[in-house]
Amino acid sequence: MKSRFNFPTRILFGEQSLEDLPQELSSMGSKRPLVVTDRGLVNTPIPEMVSAVIQDAGMETETFSQVSPNPTDAQVDEGARVFADYGADCIVAVGGGSPMDAGKAIQIRINHHEAMEEYDDLKGGDTKITGQLPPLVAIPTTAGTGSEVSRSAVISVAAAGRKVILFSPRLMPSVAICDPTLTYGLPARITAETGMDALSHNVEAYLSKGYHPMADGIALKAISMVARNLLTATKDGKNVEARRQMMMASTMGAVAFQKGLGVIHSLAHPLSSVSGLSHGLANALMMPHALAFNSQVVPGRVADIAVALGSKDHSAQGAIDVVEELLSKLGLKARLTEVGVKESQIDDLVKNAMTDGCHTTNPRQCADDDMRSLFKSAW
Ligand SMILES: [Fe+2]
Repeated sequence: MKSRFNFPTRILFGEQSLEDLPQELSSMGSKRPLVVTDRGLVNTPIPEMVSAVIQDAGMETETFSQVSPNPTDAQVDEGARVFADYGADCIVAVGGGSPMDAGKAIQIRINHHEAMEEYDDLKGGDTKITGQLPPLVAIPTTAGTGSEVSRSAVISVAAAGRKVILFSPRLMPSVAICDPTLTYGLPARITAETGMDALSHNVEAYLSKGYHPMADGIALKAISMVARNLLTATKDGKNVEARRQMMMASTMGAVAFQKGLGVIHSLAHPLSSVSGLSHGLANALMMPHALAFNSQVVPGRVADIAVALGSKDHSAQGAIDVVEELLSKLGLKARLTEVGVKESQIDDLVKNAMTDGCHTTNPRQCADDDMRSLFKSAW
């Protein structure tokens, strides 16, 4: 048996870690970083705080904030143009998954000039990511995506009419600065939904096929951290310990899912693209049904998750029950009909779930009929 492991990037973790940004920039030789953030976050004090930390250390900086929730290739092109016009030498991506994904795509764009879909991992585009990439510092402001330690990005490409996955070890941020204080102001609903995304990464990583005991250990630990802290972080956003534990669990999720994801994400992706659900909510809704589906083939693994979640029932059913209870306590809807998913969308949902790559590492093989019955079980 041969296995290859890559463990991630340098991580600065803890309250006020943002203060160390200038030192990190200096050590990588950056003098003119470009801050990349999104349209929503630019209305909060966070991008200004980041710019101020850079400027207080005597460096100049510029901000590009034209990133939308599903970043597009046009935004990436514009970001690369701003980077070049400003003469930037580094990207500081600040926000949730969208600015971090956009930042990674801008990294590619600086020295790679083919159409963005040519770099699509699904058609071997990773081999074309060969030129020099400027360094990227990732600063997450949510606890969910884990993009700060991942080596992929998702960009909507208008000409291709679909999302393109960019994947390369070279896209792994040079440094992740995980400062939980940046999540203190997150609204309860976003805390809950993004936290369920973090839980789904760890659950799917643990269940996914393949040999990776290191990822398994990280995933189980992070599952218990989410079970103990997500409700508190949601109800008391300034709870220092809960916010810290959730940010770490989120980062651990993306470390763990280098082993693979699974059917939850394949079901969730079309629930966002076809039905407009947030990524975290879509994962949350499908998780109990996917656990039940997978427990038919890996009951012991799902039972391990029950234990990590703190269930008194150490069987696979215990995991399903705890997740359903957590959804209810977080105030998240549990049925697709309650969040506006239409019966007429089901064929599109099934088709897109099947073409999504995440379920290829799911422990149980998924056919069209499986996807259909999983959606229907959540109806
Ligand atoms: Fe996710």
